[in-house]
Amino acid sequence: TEETLRLLLSRIKDVPDYPQPGVMFKDITPLLADPAAFGALTDALAGLCSTYGATKIVGLEARGFILAAPVAVQAGVGFVPVRKAGKLPGATLKQAYALEYGTAEIEVHAEDLAPGDRVMVIDDVLATGGTAEASLELIRRAGAEVAGVAVLMELGFLAGRARLEAVLGGAPLDALITV
Ligand code: PRP
Ligand code: MG
Repeated sequence: TEETLRLLLSRIKDVPDYPQPGVMFKDITPLLADPAAFGALTDALAGLCSTYGATKIVGLEARGFILAAPVAVQAGVGFVPVRKAGKLPGATLKQAYALEYGTAEIEVHAEDLAPGDRVMVIDDVLATGGTAEASLELIRRAGAEVAGVAVLMELGFLAGRARLEAVLGGAPLDALITV
């Protein structure tokens, strides 16, 4: 609802010049510290997972974990961590993606995703879309289907939506808030 969105927005703090001069950082820690706001966010994201028939939730390390884990519990489906490379002990699928400077890699346990799974990706922020795009590669390489991507916040000026929609194949991209 409109009221929920206002509550969420009111708990996101603008931090100027972090982590670099000229960047306005969106700090979600006040939202996490407010149980009414965190609960409303969890409800909203879990509702999307039900609507899209997700059978698994992928959370993107690190901030995505904070949101995706309670959403998975609430939606009654499994949580699958997509981690930055080198943290998972089992057999993994690995995907590189571009950062502003250089590249990074994310990984998932191959056995956590399988054909027949409908996977919802959850993260805090959609910026350039590089992280989310890499996670879609992992899901599809595992043979699973992408149910959708849901984020708390989309940074509209970075055009991550256009980039992601080009590879979503019609699956939904939901951002509760666009800034
Ligand atoms: C941030 C944010 C998203 C990602 C969005 O994560 O949490 O995951 O960047 O950027 P993109 O759309 O341009 O890929 P980051 O990797 O900075 O760190 P985190 O471990 O704190 O989540
Ligand atoms: Mg992140």
